[in-house]
Amino acid sequence: MSRRDPIYQRLAGVLEKMIQSQSLRTGDRMPSVRQFSMQQGVSVPTSLQAYTLLESRGWIEARPKSGFFVRSRLADMAPEPVTKISRPQVTTMGDPNPVESMFSDYANDRLVPLGAAIPSAKRLPGVKLTRLMASVGRRLGDESIGYDPPPGSISLRRELSRRSLDWGCALQADEFLITIGATEAVSLALRAICEPGDTVVIESPTYFGLAGMLREMRLKALPVPVHPSDGLDLDVLERALRKNRVKACVVVPNFHNPTGSVTSDVHKKRLVEICSRNHIPLIEDDTYGDLPHVGPRPRCLKAFDQEGIVILCGSFSKKLAPGYRVGYIAAGSWQGRIRSLKQASTLSGTLLTSLTISEFLKTGGYDRYLRSICHAYRLQTERMREALAASLPDGSALSRPQGGYILWCQLPGGVDAMELYHQARSSGIGIAPGPLFSPVGGFRDCFRINCGHPWDPVIERAVKTLGRIAKRLAAP
Ligand SMILES: Cc1ncc(COP(=O)(O)O)c(C=O)c1O
Repeated sequence: MSRRDPIYQRLAGVLEKMIQSQSLRTGDRMPSVRQFSMQQGVSVPTSLQAYTLLESRGWIEARPKSGFFVRSRLADMAPEPVTKISRPQVTTMGDPNPVESMFSDYANDRLVPLGAAIPSAKRLPGVKLTRLMASVGRRLGDESIGYDPPPGSISLRRELSRRSLDWGCALQADEFLITIGATEAVSLALRAICEPGDTVVIESPTYFGLAGMLREMRLKALPVPVHPSDGLDLDVLERALRKNRVKACVVVPNFHNPTGSVTSDVHKKRLVEICSRNHIPLIEDDTYGDLPHVGPRPRCLKAFDQEGIVILCGSFSKKLAPGYRVGYIAAGSWQGRIRSLKQASTLSGTLLTSLTISEFLKTGGYDRYLRSICHAYRLQTERMREALAASLPDGSALSRPQGGYILWCQLPGGVDAMELYHQARSSGIGIAPGPLFSPVGGFRDCFRINCGHPWDPVIERAVKTLGRIAKRLAAP
C-alpha cells in the first residue's frame, strides 16, 4: 500500500491487517460507518468506500439493520478439490441422461434446489423483461411475430459486437449467428466439424449436457483433467494429442461448470497455441463469462486466436433469461456451414426474445443488472461455502469460484457422493453428484452445489442436513 493510494484504500488496508492479526475477530461488529469516519477524520462516503472494498474482498459482511461484521473465514481453510490425473483414454458415452434427471429434480418443488445450475427466478429481471418485450412488440406491430432467419437479428448482433470488446476481442456483427441457447451453438459447432466415430477432447469433470450431446452424435470423448484453480491440464492435453487423433476440443475456460475455475490468460494463450499447432478447432463455451464476483470479466480464448481456430459460443441463459433461449456463435471460417446446418435443423431463431435482450443491452439495463447480480452471487456463494465448511466432515474440500454460482465439493476418503445424493433426495434436498460430470462415472467423492438462490432458512437447514448425512457416511 503506498501513500499515493486513495484514502479509502489505505483505510481498508489497515482494517484488513487488523482482521488478519485477529485484533478484529470473526463475528465482531465493525464500528459504524459514521463512527469510523469520526475516528479517522474522514468523510462518511470515504469510510463507506473503505467498508465496501473490504466487503468485496470478503473480509466483512453487511447484515440488514445491524451494520458491518467481520466474516467467518472457515471456508478459506478448506483445501481445494483435487482432480486426480489419470491417463486420458478415449471413451464412448454411457447411457443415463443426467440433464433429464437434473431438470426433473429442479421441477420437483419438494426438493431444495441445490442440484441443477439454474439461477433463482427471484434474482432474474423477469418483470422488467416482460415489460420491455411488450414495448418492443408494440413498436414492431405485426412484424413482431415473424421469423428471425439466420444469422439472426442485426440489432442483437451489433450489441454482441460492441460487447466483444469486453471479452478482449473485436468481433464484427456479421461474425455472429444467433442460436437457440449455448446448447445449439456448441451442437452446431460439433456437427460442422465432426463425423460420427470422431474423438473430441472434453474437460474432466465436464458439464454433463456436453456428454449427452456427444452421445447423441455418436462422438467419442477424450477427457483431460481440469484443475479447480487453473482450468485444463495443458501438459496432459499435449501428451494426449500426441497419442490420439482428435477432431475438436470443447472447453469452458471462464467459471467452468462444475469447478468454477477460470483459466488464466497465460494458460488461455498456451491452450490456443497448442490447438493451433495441432490444427484442432477449439470450441469455447463462454456461458458464464459475464458473472465475475469482483473486477472485470475474464477474457475469452477467442481473444488469443491468431489462426481463426476458436469457435466462440455463449448465451444469456445463465445470467438473464434461461427460457428465452437466446445464444450466439462466432465461428469464423465455419460460419457458412453452421448457418446452413442451423437452417436445416431449426430454420429460424426467436425474434421477440432476441430483440428484447438486444434492447436491454442497448439501454444499459443489462450492465446495471449484472453489477447487482454478480455481487449477489458472490455473497450467496461465500455464504454457501461457509455453511458447507461448517457442516461437512473434516477433510472435505471446496472450490473457490471467482464467478458464477456453482460450487464443487470433494468429500474425504471413501464417502460415496451417489449415496449422499440418494439420501439427500430422501431428505428433500437436490444436489448434483460427481459421477454425472464424468463419462466414465468418476468423481464418486464429489458433488456440485447450486448457489443461485438467495440465502434463506430453508437452504440453511438443507446444508446442515446434507452435512449430517455426509458425516454419517464418513463415519468408520
Ligand atoms: C457450461 C454450460 N454450457 C451450456 C449450458 C446450456 O446453456 P443454454 O441454456 O444457453 O443452452 C449450460 C447449462 O447448464 C452450461 O453449464
